[in-house]
Amino acid sequence: MSLTPRFPVFLHGGDYNPDQWLKYPDVLEEDVRLMKKAKVNCVSLGIFAWAALEPEEGRYEFGWMDAVIDRLWKAGIRVDLATPSGARPAWMAQKYPEVLRVDDRFQRRHFGGRHNHCPSSPVYREKVRAIDTALAERYAKHPGVILWHISNEFSGDCYCPLCQEKWRAWLREKYGTLEALNDRWWTGFWSMAYTDWSQIEPPSPVGQDANPAMWVDWRRFSTHQCKDFILMEKEAVHSVCPEIPVTANLMQRFFDYDYFDLSEALDVVSWDSYPGWGLDDVKAASEHAMTHDLMRSFKDRPFLLMESTPSLVNWQEVNRVKRPGMHLLSSMLPLAHGSQSVMYFQWRKGRGGSEMFHGAVVGHDGTADTRVFKEVRQVGEALEKLAPLYGAPQEKPRVCILYDYSCLWALHYAQMGSEAVKDYPETVNAWYRALWKMGVAVDFRDMREETDLSGYALVIAPTLFMFRGGIEEKLRRFTEQGGTLAATYGCGVIDGDGRAFLSLTPHALTDVFGAVTEELDVLYPSQSNAMIMDGREWPVTGVCEVIRTEDAEVLGTYRDDFYAGRPCLTRNRFGKGEAWYLAARTDEAALTALLDGICRSLGIPRALSVPLPEGVVARDRGGCVFLQNYSGREQTVTLPDPRTDLLTGASLSGEITLPVCGVMALARG
Ligand code: GLA
Ligand code: ZN
Repeated sequence: MSLTPRFPVFLHGGDYNPDQWLKYPDVLEEDVRLMKKAKVNCVSLGIFAWAALEPEEGRYEFGWMDAVIDRLWKAGIRVDLATPSGARPAWMAQKYPEVLRVDDRFQRRHFGGRHNHCPSSPVYREKVRAIDTALAERYAKHPGVILWHISNEFSGDCYCPLCQEKWRAWLREKYGTLEALNDRWWTGFWSMAYTDWSQIEPPSPVGQDANPAMWVDWRRFSTHQCKDFILMEKEAVHSVCPEIPVTANLMQRFFDYDYFDLSEALDVVSWDSYPGWGLDDVKAASEHAMTHDLMRSFKDRPFLLMESTPSLVNWQEVNRVKRPGMHLLSSMLPLAHGSQSVMYFQWRKGRGGSEMFHGAVVGHDGTADTRVFKEVRQVGEALEKLAPLYGAPQEKPRVCILYDYSCLWALHYAQMGSEAVKDYPETVNAWYRALWKMGVAVDFRDMREETDLSGYALVIAPTLFMFRGGIEEKLRRFTEQGGTLAATYGCGVIDGDGRAFLSLTPHALTDVFGAVTEELDVLYPSQSNAMIMDGREWPVTGVCEVIRTEDAEVLGTYRDDFYAGRPCLTRNRFGKGEAWYLAARTDEAALTALLDGICRSLGIPRALSVPLPEGVVARDRGGCVFLQNYSGREQTVTLPDPRTDLLTGASLSGEITLPVCGVMALARG
């Protein structure tokens, strides 16, 4: 099933803000002409347009939007129509200050900026519901409207009295009794025990900031608040017309909400990807490739790239422009990983406002005569040529990496170790990156009850500090039945409530690993150790866990310190499968050697079966291999079989040359 059934093609376009240009009718006409030229087929309309749609309370102005949508429709350009809840008009903030958010120091914010609303406020909910319903009544039947863009980049928490009430109600529902809450939050520590529900405030830097279990619950509650708000908006538009799918644009390395959970409220996952190109392009690409795979994994279906920049951003410390060719290359990265679109922020640069210098398809000169515009058009052409891939079935990855938001939060809030142990996304990315460079496809799963690991050959559990949702049982069964499990230091230390297991660790899996952890040592950044494996030394930095083996085979040992000679890498046969345990933080070369061996022995397929130069990666999508060069140098690759580059139509075989930023979409034959 297509993500956008009314328009089942790769989408190309971006955020379009005609509400900023209503006094420039020529510009609005010109926009459509230029969009055609740039091969734009869809725009995200009205994302922050509330003040233009409802200039005073209860008076809707839809005339301008009617004209825009019709003009676009006549030109064959579809609309991803936004609900405007991401920013609110000044009159509303003035008349109903309760719509504004209260920050973590319990201070009500003032009007301004965006993303500054309280999710509980009955007035805000009523206003949002009313305008969403009015938009749906007016536009949902329009054949040009293909998707709902709910609000914009939901984030953050609200500490207002209403949200606090909801927090307490949520806790009551979860724990039932105060006794249970005190027990799970271990409030005997520092005299933290609560004797009445009304005493419980949210965790805060000016209040209770020293209880990690409470913080993790607060993040779960905040996820629930955001999800509930999305569901309210979804219900508003779907009660008028259920036909148009709903999305909300998610973000990179996001911390505030559990995206696996939040995605349940969405029909379609979409996200905003802004790699910082020009410093370490391989690292940047690997991080964003990982997030593309995460986004695909949330609902186990393709996703949309909702935003990316055609050129530069304006919010990094150093805002470099993309080098020639990087726009096509970086736009093919999401495609390779399952995106059904390449969309931008933004179509046209505003004349003012904080984002007036952010990259856009059309700059302040208003012409098509720029390098950026031409490279955007090139992406539009590429998407047309790739049309055969749109519905092509994708083979299921055989490798699964566990990535869990509760585990992310638990590691973040735990006062222990060092950054090296606690930087969970970086640890996960290190494992991911090694596989990505090998061309091995990966799914992500979290620890929810529904998670099913049975279809995978290899499950990787990097720093799975928390165990919840019965994961220990699943990992045991998975291994017993023939799966290969690979875990690292810091595994199975606390339960889903955040309390330490009163057991040997990895909790309930020491027989599976044939090993027991004893101490978690961390190194200063200037220090290092090494793992001795196959007579070679592999650098170790940051984390050295001291373990002892019971039945496991020792494959690597520490070189230095009081644990010199003790196990660092172990393997244990368990049932029909095997479980690996890597106790230290090694570099990429060691992870690559380890994963290369495991993947070979399991016969896990790679996108291309030939060695690839550093910085050149291959990714299979529906039988077509996206060969991408992030190395910053010209590179050669020897193809194992004859291929056709869908982007150029060229037939290729044997040794081929990839230019700097080169990308090819290699179909068989
Ligand atoms: C985000 C927002 C956009 C814009 C861009 C700038 O992704 O959703 O509105 O601010 O960042 O990069
Ligand atoms: Zn609130």
